[in-house]
Amino acid sequence: MRIGIYDFGANGLPLVLAPMAAVSDLPFRRIAFELGASLAPTELISAEGLWRAQKRTLAYLRHDPALERPFCVQIFGARPETMAKAALAAVEHGAGIIDINMGCPVSKVVSGGAGAALMRDPERAVAIVRALRAALPEAVPVTAKFRSGWDASSLNAVEFAQRLEGAGVAAIAVHGRTRAQAYSGKADWSAIAAVKRAVSIPVIGNGDVLCQDDARRMVEQTRCDAVMIGRGAMGNPWIFRECRGGASATRAERGPMVRRHLLEHLEWFGRERVQGIHAFRTQLACYAKGLHGAAEFRRDVMRIDELDSLLAAIEGFFSE
Ligand SMILES: Cc1cc2nc3c(=O)[nH]c(=O)nc-3n(C[C@H](O)[C@H](O)[C@H](O)COP(=O)(O)O)c2cc1C
Repeated sequence: MRIGIYDFGANGLPLVLAPMAAVSDLPFRRIAFELGASLAPTELISAEGLWRAQKRTLAYLRHDPALERPFCVQIFGARPETMAKAALAAVEHGAGIIDINMGCPVSKVVSGGAGAALMRDPERAVAIVRALRAALPEAVPVTAKFRSGWDASSLNAVEFAQRLEGAGVAAIAVHGRTRAQAYSGKADWSAIAAVKRAVSIPVIGNGDVLCQDDARRMVEQTRCDAVMIGRGAMGNPWIFRECRGGASATRAERGPMVRRHLLEHLEWFGRERVQGIHAFRTQLACYAKGLHGAAEFRRDVMRIDELDSLLAAIEGFFSE
């Protein structure tokens, strides 16, 4: 797969960590890259916050230039000028690819005309891509991530993809669910296949890939150029290794990784330690999922606010 000046796939099928709010931060992207991901966009970042250079927003641009080659920044917004200024700011902070969020289902985002709302306003989506293309250096590809449509009665992914291709996007990621479905139900991979047949830019397939076999079937059924993995990587970043034919993580292997993830998370998070610990709880629960005693572990760690006790609980659980 080639996105602008960047080549992916030296290690086989390109695998992409999905952008996920409060998950795809620097510590987790680093882990994903080390375990075999080819690309890992940031979570969605507010274009308004970026171009106004808000401190909290700029913190999302911290990255690891040695591993993140290229560093891919996902932005959301509805105003072409603001989006272009935000994209430029991201490039000035090291972004090599700008991804536009056109799939976020959350009311706060769509009510402002951004995220999945852009699928109902293709003119605006095209205007945003054009504004970014005009503002950015040619070497910086613009990509977009969207869904199969707004709802079951407006499945417009194919026309939408063609319009974006015409406006200058270099690749697209398609999540086979509508905005109305949010994250429920089963992803419809036929939407990915239909888009792939209709455009010549790379298509990244997304939705419900939980193991190597799912990744293989998605490629077989859709002919997509790369596979993007979201929830399947939460608590199991080894999925990238598994998809490359490597082993699943053992319980004992998980412990040191969870410890490292927590410590890097706290360093990255940078605010009150207790807030950082609370923010890590969902991911911690994901690491334990499916293991013997996970329910008790989850219950116990929900009550721990103190780092040393939490590290001891992690060590105890994963070395059982
Ligand atoms: C916790 C969470 C946060 C997400 N945040 C984003 C986001 O910031 N940007 C985005 O484009 N999609 C976001 N998504 C959607 C995922 O990128 C992906 O499209 C979706 O989860 C389907 O893939 P999966 O079945 O592999 O999880 C999020 C999903 C989850 C579960």
